[in-house]
Amino acid sequence: MIMTSTPRTQVHPDPHSASQALATEVADLISSREAKQLPTVLGLATGATPIHFYEELRRLHTEHGLSFGSVITFNLDEYVGLGRQDPQSYWHFMHDQLFDHIDIHADNIHIPDGTIAEADLGQHCEAYEQAIKNAGGIDLQILGIGTTGHIGFNEPGTARDSRTGIVDLTEETRQSNAVFFNSIDDVPTKAISMGCGTILDAKQIAALAWGERKASVVQGALQGPVTPDCPASFLQEHPSATFYLDQPAANALR
Ligand code: GLP
Repeated sequence: MIMTSTPRTQVHPDPHSASQALATEVADLISSREAKQLPTVLGLATGATPIHFYEELRRLHTEHGLSFGSVITFNLDEYVGLGRQDPQSYWHFMHDQLFDHIDIHADNIHIPDGTIAEADLGQHCEAYEQAIKNAGGIDLQILGIGTTGHIGFNEPGTARDSRTGIVDLTEETRQSNAVFFNSIDDVPTKAISMGCGTILDAKQIAALAWGERKASVVQGALQGPVTPDCPASFLQEHPSATFYLDQPAANALR
């Protein structure tokens, strides 16, 4: 593994070993906070990228007894219009990939509600921000990066200080995510997403990216200008952000 600083970058041979390294860090974080009788607040991501990471957390739970009894989670985003039971909803994804297999308390799971009435949306998003504050803030935020440079669903043009709210998805993001749906027409056009400011408030951030497809956006995020044109570039200014990459995703780095 190769490591660099600011933001820290770990280049692993493959997504599996990178995910194992991150899952071990999460387990250590939970243990060290538990020893001080403190909860661990995790910000969680969806998409293809964190699948190995969730697999590894499940393994640590079943084979090594890692408990999630003191863990509180906040997911980054949810599609507008998809209910909990919709197989493409992030609520469904998170339960299928992780929550149904570990001992987390249902009350400690937070995912924006994609079915909230438009009139109640503002209040729902404010309550989400408040719930994060009430939990003591996010200790570690897990992030994927969209090919557009988005974090959460904050597409290019999003301000650095944006907060949880409703966002429009770009055509490129809808195309990328169409693999999870029957057709592009089924991919929602809007989502509720934590804002860039919400994400950057996390005490630590782990940004994950795999494959050649992400190489150019990873290069821009790490070595390009800090700009709303690439929301992932805001991570350069975070005091404790680490990029977990596989070799192909790191190929364009200078
Ligand atoms: C998705 C999610 C993001 C995710 C990113 C990358 O649409 N909203 O949270 O990190 O885009 O997706 P993937 O991991 O499938 O490449």
